[in-house]
Amino acid sequence: MDYLEITGQAKLSGSITISGAKNAALPVIAATILSDKPLTLTNLPNVVDIRTLLKLLDMLGGEVDHQGIVARIDNGAMNSTKAVYEIVSQMRASILVLGPLLTRFGECEVSLPGGCAIGQRPIDLHLKALEAMGAKIEIKGGYVRAEAPNGLHGAKIIFDKITVGGTENVLMAAAMAHGTTEIINAAREPEIVQLCDMLVAAGVAVEGIGTGTITVQGTGGKTLEWREPVEIIPDRIEAGTYLCAGAITYSQITLEKVNIEHIQAMIDKLESMGCQFTIGEESITIHPPKKLRPVNIITTEYPGFPTDMQAQFMAVATIVEGESLIEERLFENRFMHVSELNRLGADIWLKGNTAAVKGVEALYAADVMATDLRASSALVLGALAAKGVTKVRRIYHLDRGYDDLEGKLAKLGAQIQRKSE
Ligand code: UD1
Repeated sequence: MDYLEITGQAKLSGSITISGAKNAALPVIAATILSDKPLTLTNLPNVVDIRTLLKLLDMLGGEVDHQGIVARIDNGAMNSTKAVYEIVSQMRASILVLGPLLTRFGECEVSLPGGCAIGQRPIDLHLKALEAMGAKIEIKGGYVRAEAPNGLHGAKIIFDKITVGGTENVLMAAAMAHGTTEIINAAREPEIVQLCDMLVAAGVAVEGIGTGTITVQGTGGKTLEWREPVEIIPDRIEAGTYLCAGAITYSQITLEKVNIEHIQAMIDKLESMGCQFTIGEESITIHPPKKLRPVNIITTEYPGFPTDMQAQFMAVATIVEGESLIEERLFENRFMHVSELNRLGADIWLKGNTAAVKGVEALYAADVMATDLRASSALVLGALAAKGVTKVRRIYHLDRGYDDLEGKLAKLGAQIQRKSE
């Protein structure tokens, strides 16, 4: 199994380019099911989750030509509507094929994704919304079996909770439904905006993009016509992670190809910790202060502070004199990195969904284990600051979502190597 060996306390410098956003690419790839015409996607990140979803399309009978950051997908000959356990269990986001398969083919079977390290993560809101649009759904043998032989119809969907994946599934289902769907309490993440823009470019009338109320006029069963390639937006979580790398190592580094608006919540928090920034149109340079200040964070939906950056900011807070408070409001079990950061010498106490981080003078190298995607990057950040050589194991979590993490960090001057054992 691969692990990362990191010799900490190296000063970073220089610049790297941020890749396309995994979480934007996944719904875009799922949405290609809505058409029987080919579509080219560009700026895809080179990560395992993307390859997993492309493999699922291939298993459903789609044709996928994937070269580096570009993929041409043709779902004209798609002849299966069953998303099997072997794929869905590898990646929860496979549930995103539910809406598009059902709305295009009138039936589908998708394996239940189950829980994951960061919490229970049910899909009840996805299912309730599709039922409101006329789907007959039963859960049997670990699969969601959905039917709508005459197609889905528009409906007013009021989400009890803001859900990114649920909003995406409904948007895709609504695009080919009969009539108008109104989504209330919709997610507003940039990844949702990208999906809406893609539908609009294919001629679907979508209003309220980027707001909490989105309306979609369905095509009444007609498959969509793509008119232009889709370029995946920059990965705001990857960008935020590298800003944290700059902060925790007190290094000035530059990120190219970022969308500043998308990372504003992270910039604000780093500013409150004393960092300064030089901001270009698509680039950002972080200038850490001589001494970082503690920070208080509450994770919430976009445009608030993202739960996907909670672990990385906690890593930074471990070496900041004073006490930082970090409250996780989205996922009940998203603190698996705490015990591993403590193994590096951090002083973090958990009470309910709040972590109190008391800054220590230094972290010290240890063997640590990654538990989920973002927790893994927090351990890498901790290792960059720690004295000595840290081994981060189970990095297959990192490979799911960070494009060439060790290559990019090495380019910035980090002493990091991937090894096998
Ligand atoms: C997406 C992101 C993930 C991010 C999360 C929150 C992708 C592929 N993943 O995950 O990186 O951490 O948004 O920003 O884009 N919930 C329910 N019932 C449902 C659906 C969700 O109770 O049917 C709950 C979840 O358990 C969670 C909250 O709603 O507590 C938000 O989850 P959701 O926004 O759906 O997350 P994902 O789309 O799975």
